[in-house]
Amino acid sequence: MTRSDPLDLLDPRAAGVLRRLHSANSRQLPRILLRLAPDLPALALGRPRRSSPTAAEGMDDAYLALGREQAAYCYAQARAVRARRVVEFGTSFGVSTIWLAAAVRDNGGGTVIGTEMVPAKAERARTHVREAGLADHVDIRTGNALETLRDLDGPVDLMLNDGFPDAALDVLRLVAPQLRPGAVVITDNVGMMRGDYADYLAWVRDPAHGFVSVRVPYKGGTEVSIRVNGT
Ligand SMILES: C[S@@+](CC[C@H](N)C(=O)[O-])C[C@H]1O[C@@H](n2cnc3c(N)ncnc32)[C@H](O)[C@@H]1O
Repeated sequence: MTRSDPLDLLDPRAAGVLRRLHSANSRQLPRILLRLAPDLPALALGRPRRSSPTAAEGMDDAYLALGREQAAYCYAQARAVRARRVVEFGTSFGVSTIWLAAAVRDNGGGTVIGTEMVPAKAERARTHVREAGLADHVDIRTGNALETLRDLDGPVDLMLNDGFPDAALDVLRLVAPQLRPGAVVITDNVGMMRGDYADYLAWVRDPAHGFVSVRVPYKGGTEVSIRVNGT
Protein backbone atom coordinates (compact mmCIF):
# COMPACT_ATOMS: atom_id res chain seq x y z
CA MET A 1 0.00 0.00 0.00
CA THR A 2 1.37 3.45 -0.89
CA ARG A 3 1.42 6.04 1.86
CA SER A 4 -0.38 9.23 0.82
CA ASP A 5 -0.61 11.01 4.18
CA PRO A 6 2.37 11.36 6.57
CA LEU A 7 -0.01 10.68 9.45
CA ASP A 8 -0.38 7.12 8.17
CA LEU A 9 3.07 6.50 9.72
CA LEU A 10 1.44 6.63 13.16
CA ASP A 11 -1.07 4.53 15.08
CA PRO A 12 -4.72 5.57 14.57
CA ARG A 13 -5.12 7.14 18.04
CA ALA A 14 -2.13 9.49 17.76
CA ALA A 15 -2.91 10.16 14.09
CA GLY A 16 -6.48 11.15 14.97
CA VAL A 17 -5.36 13.73 17.53
CA LEU A 18 -2.68 15.08 15.21
CA ARG A 19 -5.11 15.38 12.29
CA ARG A 20 -7.25 17.67 14.46
CA LEU A 21 -4.28 19.72 15.75
CA HIS A 22 -2.58 20.15 12.36
CA SER A 23 -5.90 21.37 10.92
CA ALA A 24 -6.34 23.86 13.78
CA ASN A 25 -2.77 25.06 13.18
CA SER A 26 -3.46 25.59 9.47
CA ARG A 27 -6.71 27.47 10.12
CA GLN A 28 -4.86 29.78 12.51
CA LEU A 29 -1.97 30.62 10.17
CA PRO A 30 -3.51 33.63 8.38
CA ARG A 31 -4.11 35.33 11.76
CA ILE A 32 -0.55 34.59 12.87
CA LEU A 33 0.85 36.03 9.64
CA LEU A 34 -1.12 39.23 10.29
CA ARG A 35 0.44 39.46 13.75
CA LEU A 36 3.86 39.08 12.14
CA ALA A 37 3.13 41.90 9.68
CA PRO A 38 5.40 44.46 11.43
CA ASP A 39 8.24 41.96 11.07
CA LEU A 40 7.75 41.18 7.39
CA PRO A 41 10.27 43.76 6.07
CA ALA A 42 12.98 42.41 8.40
CA LEU A 43 12.10 38.81 7.49
CA ALA A 44 12.21 39.60 3.76
CA LEU A 45 15.61 41.26 4.11
CA GLY A 46 17.00 38.50 6.35
CA ARG A 47 17.51 40.92 9.23
CA PRO A 48 17.05 40.12 12.93
CA ARG A 49 13.68 40.88 14.54
CA ARG A 50 15.12 41.08 18.03
CA SER A 51 14.03 44.67 18.58
CA SER A 52 10.44 43.78 17.70
CA PRO A 53 8.07 42.82 20.51
CA THR A 54 6.10 40.65 18.09
CA ALA A 55 8.99 38.18 18.16
CA ALA A 56 7.65 36.77 21.42
CA GLU A 57 4.53 38.58 22.53
CA GLY A 58 1.00 37.88 21.37
CA MET A 59 1.76 34.24 20.64
CA ASP A 60 0.28 32.65 23.76
CA ASP A 61 -2.65 31.15 21.82
CA ALA A 62 -0.60 30.32 18.70
CA TYR A 63 0.19 26.75 17.65
CA LEU A 64 3.19 27.69 15.46
CA ALA A 65 3.45 23.95 14.87
CA LEU A 66 5.69 21.98 12.52
CA GLY A 67 4.08 21.14 9.20
CA ARG A 68 2.92 17.54 8.63
CA GLU A 69 5.77 16.52 6.30
CA GLN A 70 8.29 18.37 8.46
CA ALA A 71 7.00 16.61 11.58
CA ALA A 72 7.04 13.26 9.77
CA TYR A 73 10.67 13.97 8.87
CA CYS A 74 11.41 14.48 12.60
CA TYR A 75 9.64 11.18 13.31
CA ALA A 76 11.78 9.44 10.68
CA GLN A 77 15.00 10.97 12.03
CA ALA A 78 14.08 9.83 15.53
CA ARG A 79 13.48 6.31 14.19
CA ALA A 80 16.79 6.41 12.26
CA VAL A 81 18.86 7.21 15.36
CA ARG A 82 16.70 4.87 17.49
CA ALA A 83 15.99 7.76 19.82
CA ARG A 84 14.99 6.88 23.37
CA ARG A 85 15.70 10.28 24.97
CA VAL A 86 14.53 13.34 23.09
CA VAL A 87 14.64 17.01 24.12
CA GLU A 88 12.19 19.46 22.67
CA PHE A 89 12.73 23.22 23.10
CA GLY A 90 9.30 24.76 22.41
CA THR A 91 6.36 22.43 23.03
CA SER A 92 3.47 24.82 22.38
CA PHE A 93 0.28 22.70 22.15
CA GLY A 94 2.17 19.43 21.75
CA VAL A 95 2.04 18.70 18.00
CA SER A 96 5.74 17.94 17.63
CA THR A 97 5.74 16.32 21.07
CA ILE A 98 3.21 13.72 19.92
CA TRP A 99 5.18 12.92 16.75
CA LEU A 100 8.41 12.52 18.72
CA ALA A 101 6.78 10.52 21.51
CA ALA A 102 5.31 8.15 18.91
CA ALA A 103 8.83 7.65 17.53
CA VAL A 104 10.26 6.96 20.98
CA ARG A 105 7.48 4.47 21.69
CA ASP A 106 7.96 2.81 18.28
CA ASN A 107 11.70 2.58 19.04
CA GLY A 108 10.90 0.50 22.13
CA GLY A 109 10.21 3.17 24.74
CA GLY A 110 11.75 6.23 26.33
CA THR A 111 10.99 9.88 27.05
CA VAL A 112 10.46 13.14 25.24
CA ILE A 113 11.41 16.00 27.56
CA GLY A 114 9.43 18.98 26.34
CA THR A 115 9.61 22.52 27.65
CA GLU A 116 7.14 25.36 27.35
CA MET A 117 7.24 28.74 29.08
CA VAL A 118 3.50 29.51 28.79
CA PRO A 119 1.78 27.44 31.51
CA ALA A 120 -1.61 27.28 29.73
CA LYS A 121 0.06 25.95 26.59
CA ALA A 122 1.99 23.33 28.54
CA GLU A 123 -1.28 22.20 30.16
CA ARG A 124 -3.04 21.86 26.80
CA ALA A 125 -0.05 19.99 25.42
CA ARG A 126 -0.30 17.49 28.29
CA THR A 127 -4.00 17.00 27.52
CA HIS A 128 -3.26 16.39 23.83
CA VAL A 129 -0.46 13.95 24.67
CA ARG A 130 -2.84 12.02 26.97
CA GLU A 131 -5.50 11.94 24.25
CA ALA A 132 -2.89 10.50 21.88
CA GLY A 133 -2.14 7.73 24.40
CA LEU A 134 1.49 8.80 24.80
CA ALA A 135 1.61 10.25 28.33
CA ASP A 136 3.96 7.51 29.52
CA HIS A 137 6.59 8.77 27.07
CA VAL A 138 6.40 12.51 27.74
CA ASP A 139 7.67 14.85 30.47
CA ILE A 140 6.63 18.44 29.74
CA ARG A 141 8.47 20.95 31.90
CA THR A 142 6.83 24.33 32.37
CA GLY A 143 9.14 27.35 32.39
CA ASN A 144 12.11 28.86 30.61
CA ALA A 145 14.07 26.16 28.78
CA LEU A 146 17.30 27.64 30.07
CA GLU A 147 16.16 26.58 33.54
CA THR A 148 14.00 23.52 32.86
CA LEU A 149 16.65 21.77 30.73
CA ARG A 150 19.47 22.28 33.21
CA ASP A 151 19.16 18.86 34.82
CA LEU A 152 18.98 16.54 31.81
CA ASP A 153 21.17 14.10 33.53
CA GLY A 154 21.78 11.60 30.74
CA PRO A 155 22.49 11.18 27.03
CA VAL A 156 20.17 12.77 24.49
CA ASP A 157 19.60 11.14 21.07
CA LEU A 158 17.65 13.90 19.35
CA MET A 159 16.78 17.51 20.03
CA LEU A 160 14.07 19.57 18.36
CA ASN A 161 15.09 23.22 18.64
CA ASP A 162 11.79 24.99 18.04
CA GLY A 163 11.39 27.68 20.68
CA PHE A 164 11.86 31.36 19.88
CA PRO A 165 15.15 32.19 18.12
CA ASP A 166 16.52 34.49 20.82
CA ALA A 167 17.28 31.49 23.05
CA ALA A 168 18.07 28.87 20.36
CA LEU A 169 21.84 29.07 20.66
CA ASP A 170 21.92 29.24 24.46
CA VAL A 171 19.60 26.22 24.69
CA LEU A 172 21.74 24.26 22.23
CA ARG A 173 24.88 25.10 24.21
CA LEU A 174 23.13 23.96 27.38
CA VAL A 175 22.04 20.64 25.89
CA ALA A 176 25.15 20.00 23.73
CA PRO A 177 27.20 18.26 26.45
CA GLN A 178 24.42 15.65 26.74
CA LEU A 179 24.13 14.96 22.99
CA ARG A 180 25.65 11.58 22.26
CA PRO A 181 27.78 11.05 19.13
CA GLY A 182 25.39 10.69 16.20
CA ALA A 183 22.63 12.66 17.92
CA VAL A 184 20.52 14.90 15.69
CA VAL A 185 19.44 18.49 16.32
CA ILE A 186 16.60 19.78 14.15
CA THR A 187 16.03 23.54 14.15
CA ASP A 188 12.91 25.02 12.60
CA ASN A 189 12.56 28.41 10.89
CA VAL A 190 16.24 29.07 10.12
CA GLY A 191 15.38 30.00 6.53
CA MET A 192 12.31 32.11 7.21
CA MET A 193 14.01 33.93 10.13
CA ARG A 194 17.55 33.83 8.83
CA GLY A 195 18.42 37.17 10.42
CA ASP A 196 17.37 35.92 13.86
CA TYR A 197 19.28 32.65 13.40
CA ALA A 198 22.51 34.12 11.96
CA ASP A 199 24.53 33.65 15.18
CA TYR A 200 23.03 30.20 15.73
CA LEU A 201 23.96 29.03 12.23
CA ALA A 202 27.46 30.47 12.45
CA TRP A 203 28.00 28.56 15.71
CA VAL A 204 26.53 25.22 14.72
CA ARG A 205 28.32 25.24 11.34
CA ASP A 206 31.71 25.98 12.90
CA PRO A 207 33.41 22.54 12.86
CA ALA A 208 35.12 23.43 16.16
CA HIS A 209 31.76 22.92 17.88
CA GLY A 210 31.43 19.29 16.83
CA PHE A 211 28.49 19.23 14.40
CA VAL A 212 27.99 18.46 10.73
CA SER A 213 25.16 20.80 9.86
CA VAL A 214 23.05 21.08 6.71
CA ARG A 215 19.82 22.69 5.67
CA VAL A 216 16.76 20.80 4.47
CA PRO A 217 14.03 22.69 2.66
CA TYR A 218 11.05 22.40 5.05
CA LYS A 219 9.37 25.78 5.69
CA GLY A 220 11.99 27.55 3.60
CA GLY A 221 14.86 26.10 5.62
CA THR A 222 15.22 23.75 8.59
CA GLU A 223 18.70 23.07 9.96
CA VAL A 224 19.74 19.48 10.68
CA SER A 225 22.91 19.18 12.75
CA ILE A 226 24.58 15.87 13.56
CA ARG A 227 26.79 15.59 16.63
CA VAL A 228 30.07 14.17 15.35
CA ASN A 229 32.33 14.80 18.33
CA GLY A 230 32.20 16.24 21.82
CA THR A 231 33.46 19.67 22.86
C1 LIG B 1 7.28 27.46 17.38
S1 LIG B 1 6.44 27.10 18.89
C2 LIG B 1 6.70 25.38 19.11
C3 LIG B 1 5.86 24.51 18.22
C4 LIG B 1 5.95 23.04 18.54
N1 LIG B 1 7.32 22.56 18.49
C5 LIG B 1 5.11 22.24 17.57
O1 LIG B 1 5.60 21.86 16.50
O2 LIG B 1 3.94 22.03 17.89
C6 LIG B 1 7.55 27.79 20.04
C7 LIG B 1 7.11 27.67 21.48
O3 LIG B 1 8.26 27.87 22.30
C8 LIG B 1 7.87 28.52 23.47
N2 LIG B 1 9.09 29.16 23.99
C9 LIG B 1 9.74 30.21 23.44
N3 LIG B 1 10.83 30.53 24.16
C10 LIG B 1 10.86 29.67 25.21
C11 LIG B 1 11.75 29.49 26.31
N4 LIG B 1 12.82 30.26 26.48
N5 LIG B 1 11.50 28.47 27.17
C12 LIG B 1 10.43 27.66 27.01
N6 LIG B 1 9.54 27.80 25.99
C13 LIG B 1 9.76 28.78 25.10
C14 LIG B 1 6.80 29.49 23.03
O4 LIG B 1 5.95 29.86 24.09
C15 LIG B 1 6.09 28.70 21.94
O5 LIG B 1 4.94 28.05 22.42
